[in-house]
Amino acid sequence: MGKTTFALNFALALAKSNRTVLLDLDTGTSSLRNFLDVRIERDLSHYLKQGAALDGCRQGLPPAMDPEGAFANFSFIASPRGFVADMVNFSPGVKARLIDGINGLQADYLVVDLKAGLDHNVLDFLPLSNSGILLFTPRLKAATASAAEMAKAVLFRMLDVMLSSPLLRESLEAAPADRRAAVFRRLDEFIANGGDGSGRNLDDLLGEAAEQLPDDNVLRVMRYYVENYKVYYVLNQFNSVAESVENAIKPFVEEIFRSASARLSFHNLGWVVEDEQVRRSGETGVPYMVRRHYQKKQAVPAPVGEDDQLRAMFGLAPARPRPEQKKDLARELSGQLDLLRRIYVFNAGKDPETNLDFIAARARDLSANSIHQFGMKRIFSADEFLQRFQSQLRPFAAPGGD
Ligand SMILES: Nc1ncnc2c1ncn2[C@@H]1O[C@H](COP(=O)(O)OP(=O)(O)O)[C@@H](O)[C@H]1O
Ligand SMILES: [Mg+2]
Repeated sequence: MGKTTFALNFALALAKSNRTVLLDLDTGTSSLRNFLDVRIERDLSHYLKQGAALDGCRQGLPPAMDPEGAFANFSFIASPRGFVADMVNFSPGVKARLIDGINGLQADYLVVDLKAGLDHNVLDFLPLSNSGILLFTPRLKAATASAAEMAKAVLFRMLDVMLSSPLLRESLEAAPADRRAAVFRRLDEFIANGGDGSGRNLDDLLGEAAEQLPDDNVLRVMRYYVENYKVYYVLNQFNSVAESVENAIKPFVEEIFRSASARLSFHNLGWVVEDEQVRRSGETGVPYMVRRHYQKKQAVPAPVGEDDQLRAMFGLAPARPRPEQKKDLARELSGQLDLLRRIYVFNAGKDPETNLDFIAARARDLSANSIHQFGMKRIFSADEFLQRFQSQLRPFAAPGGD
């Protein structure tokens, strides 16, 4: 489906203006090593097994591949060669160490390439960070169903962690015969099984629970999390807007609404077209974005400012120099995004580089926007997440307490 291809080129697009680290956690066959013709000096095993700092396991592109240092902000950490059992199945201890290392990396962005599937090696890095990008292709009908499964599993896993809260468990065990205990038992089962076969979804269940326990803080916070849960996705091997909406987006959203919740929000970060150069760059060992950058350099003889190029593209007169002005960051960002949107409309059908630059700009914009947790600075361990969850319960604590 192109996860590694996307992760690599997306990280390179981000690295054009931000320090970006690509971490390869797809220890299977389609890992980063096969896409980069680079001698790997160090990999993740040096951190996990030999006590090296994770930062020290990073390496950049060699000068031969990036002679001008256009991607100097890019670095990557390769996964260990071959299958190493305890790294394919990260134990809780290894996972915790990995999260620790990741949170200590000196970078603006971290892109993690995960393998497909719903096992805990994937899920544990997603729900507690709310920064996952779901990549799926409109060309495969089955991919739509598994993308929906994935989004649902991530949400349910997050709720499962909440339900395991010691604060909640203690209060339920104190009164196991209470109506409250029965309501939460039903929720537990529903979430553990991904449904109860009755055709009801999470909204129905949480709604019924809230009717029975109108003032319950745990339920209130859980519903808040569901309502603020956002699904970010990118369409790969995109062919047309109409077809993608029909074959992918509509069934995807419908399935999640039906089986999980209609309260989630969906954010399309963009798409990447199906492209022969993208496909071939996987075989040559030079990433598409890098190849493309240097190809264009050769093709454009006279140095023209980027702004002038864009203006020419849209048939506008060259910009007149503007008087010195202090920059307003928010305005600047939204202006750039507007510009990109226009390029997008012009070029969407044919140019993967523009697609990827657009997605990177969207990601930057979202991570600067506090309404989105996208691009948040840490990956929470389950414990950290729980602590946060429990501290959110307290403001609702019974009135009259101290
Ligand atoms: N947008 C695209 N256009 C053409 N080929 C693509 C595109 N995205 C991925 N591919 C190709 O699809 C194949 C699988 O991609 P890969 O990144 O290894 O997927 P995954 O990591 O999900 O297994 C590779 O040969 C890759 O070059
Ligand atoms: Mg892969």
